[in-house]
Formats: sequence, C-alpha cells, structure tokens
Amino acid sequence: MIVLTVVGARPQFIKAAPVSQALTEAGFEEVLVHTGQHYDEQMSGRFFAELGLSAPALNLGVGSGLHGEQTARMLTGLEQVMLDRRPDWVLVYGDTNSTLAGALAAAKLHVPVAHVEAGLRSFNRRMPEEINRLVTDTLSTLLFTPTDLARENLLREGVPSTRICASGDVMLDAALHFGPRARRESAILERLGLVAGEYVLATIHRAENTDNSARLGAIVSGLTDLTTDLRVVLPLHPRTKLSIDRAGISTVGLDLVEPLGFLDMLRLEMDAAVIATDSGGVQKEAFFQRVPCVTMRDETEWLELVDAGWNRVVPPTTGAGIAAAVRASVGSVGRDVTPYGSGQAAAIIASNLGQQVKKCKDMLP
Ligand code: UD1
Ligand code: UDP
Repeated sequence: MIVLTVVGARPQFIKAAPVSQALTEAGFEEVLVHTGQHYDEQMSGRFFAELGLSAPALNLGVGSGLHGEQTARMLTGLEQVMLDRRPDWVLVYGDTNSTLAGALAAAKLHVPVAHVEAGLRSFNRRMPEEINRLVTDTLSTLLFTPTDLARENLLREGVPSTRICASGDVMLDAALHFGPRARRESAILERLGLVAGEYVLATIHRAENTDNSARLGAIVSGLTDLTTDLRVVLPLHPRTKLSIDRAGISTVGLDLVEPLGFLDMLRLEMDAAVIATDSGGVQKEAFFQRVPCVTMRDETEWLELVDAGWNRVVPPTTGAGIAAAVRASVGSVGRDVTPYGSGQAAAIIASNLGQQVKKCKDMLP
C-alpha cells in the first residue's frame, strides 16, 4: 500500500518524523514529496538528517512567492507525481500552503486524503492557515484530530464521526522521542552561555505579526524590555529577519540566533523560564516541558492550554503588555492535564490508514 506524504515547511518535517517511522513499521511504502516551500538548509535539509527522516523521493522546489503562485506551482507538481505514483493515500500535515495543495491535488484525482492535525480552528479567516485548514478538512477522507476540541469543531461543522480519528498529537510523539537525545546531545545552553531558568525563549513568524511593523515593533520592544532581568533568545525565522531589517527595528539586547535544529530547540525549551511565541507547535512544546507560555497573538487554536493555565494569549499591541505577561508567567504552573494523547499518535495513524483504506475509498464521491 502506497502512502504519498506531502511536506514542505519546517513543522511538517518534525510531524512527519514519527509517522514516517510508524508507516515503515506497519509495512507501508511511503513516497515522501517535499514541495520546496522551505528550502534553506536551516529551515529544511538539516531536519531530515537530524530526525532520521528519509530524503524526499522528490523535491518540487517551488520556493517562496505569493500564496496563489506558490500554491499553484505545488498543485502542478503534486498532480503529476500523484498521477505517476497512484498512491492509496495522500497524507498531509497541519495548515500550510503545502497542506492545502496536497489535499486539493489528491481530491481532484479521487485519491483519499488523510489529514494529521485536523479540526484546529482560530475562527479568524484573515489567517492564511485558517483557510488552509478549512479547505483541507473539507476535502479529507480521514481526519486525525490532536485534541477533543478539534474533534468537536469538526462534528459541529458536520463532518461525519466515521471520518474522524482521535489520534492525539504527533508533536507529543516527537517531543517524547527526541527529548532524551536533545538533553544528551545538545550543547546549546553552553554555546550561548545560558543558565537554566534565567532566560526567555522567543519565536516570531506569523504573517499577522511580521507583515505589520507596529505589531512586530511591539513584540521586539516587549522582549527587549525583559532583558533588564532575563536573557531573551530569539531564533529568527527568515521571514522575521527580513521584516525586522526592512522596518529598521532595533534588536539591541536580544540574543538573536539563526533558526535552530530541533534538538537545540527542544533543549532550549526544556530550561526556559518562559516561552514567548506566535508558533502553533512551540505553544504545545512549552507545555510538554511544563514551561509557561505567552502567545503573542489575538487568539490560539490550542485553547486547552489557556484553560489549564499554561498559556496566556496576549495580543501584541504594546511592548509593555507583552513584557508584563512574560514577567507574570515566570514560575507559574498550570493544571496537570493530558489533552494531546499518550504519545502514540503516529502508531494510531499508521494503524488506521491500514484498516480504513478500503472503507475510505468507498466513501469517496
Ligand atoms: C509557513 C506557513 C505557516 C507555518 C510556517 C512554519 C503558509 C501560508 N505558512 O510560513 O503556517 O507556521 O511556514 O515555519 O504556508 N523564507 C526563506 N527561506 C526559507 C523559507 C522561507 O528565506 O527556507 C522566507 C522567504 O522570504 C519567504 C518567507 O520566508 O517569502 C515566508 O515563507 P513561507 O513559506 O511563504 O511562509 P512562512 O512564513 O514560512
Ligand atoms: N523549531 C525549530 N527551530 C527553530 C524554531 C522552531 O526546530 O528555530 C521547531 C519547533 O520546536 C517546533 C516547530 O519548529 O517543533 C514549529 O514550527 P514553526 O514555529 O515554524 O511553525 P508552526 O508550528 O507555527 O506552524
């Protein structure tokens, strides 16, 4: 049975790592296709080596661009490879343009689509990711939900329960699997001269923050404010670097570093006093390490962490607001909850793909 997996952006390499291994163990033939959405060695290549992910069978090399042109290039390439390889399943992850293109190309060819991380909603259609999620979930045959809330969202939208599989979150699998290696192998704390519990780890890359210089300025000023009493480490996404340079925003005082490998990132997450981020994945990883998180956005898809007291959502309108939220989070502890499953999501996904292939083909229009 052939599973054609579509990846393209950094978090998708991380999500695919445990699932790819589970697919191999379950006897699937996996054809891994990289759209080329992310292409810098630090955003792409290094993750394959570090996570033990097989090299892609094909890289479409689409690169960056406007949403329409980037997605169109992906569609053209993916349609051809799906026609050539005739997969039993197309597997897509998350909510990027690569996810959307994979689902759309497959659905038009009547190939069943399985969506990992289905059912997330911000209810903000100005986010490109929200559009990608809505379309991908509509086109998917089998929807793997990471949380109860995601499942409820899908049921409310009328997705039949027979198409939904509560797998738990593959990012928990990845954090559990790679965590011990990160602790053993990463020397990032020593390299940056950091003391456990005395630094904030920050990431910024969302379009709504990087494409708006007032919001980006507020975030950087809030993080800079913290440097009077804490180190602030900011691995810079290339998009954010471009925006900071273009807007001429001063980053003096911050520890800016290049985008990190996953082991170094996990290691930094483990000993941070607080994590301040607009990333989806990093919000959850903060919780996996039981580190308080400040989410610099207007809303989050991961509401269970807000409810449990691990995450505060702070719209980045003023630097003072961000700095105050981070300071208030130092030492805070949330409730002991288990919203993301048991770390067996990858095995559940592989097993369901095997069982459902015939049934799902019957469900196709
Ligand atoms: C994309 C996803 C976002 C996800 C993020 C993960 C979409 C619409 N967005 O956002 O949901 O959270 O990936 O990191 O799919 N660039 C480089 N080198 C690279 C890649 C990008 O320099 O290897 C720069 C380019 O200037 C590019 C910009 O980053 O225009 C944005 O890249 P893009 O892939 O379009 O979106 P992300 O912001 O990375
Ligand atoms: N990540 C990483 N290096 C970095 C920043 C993030 O390895 O410098 C990892 C992070 O640990 C998480 C994933 O990338 O597993 C999150 O990706 P990102 O924030 O780019 O996207 P999102 O999750 O918001 O879609």
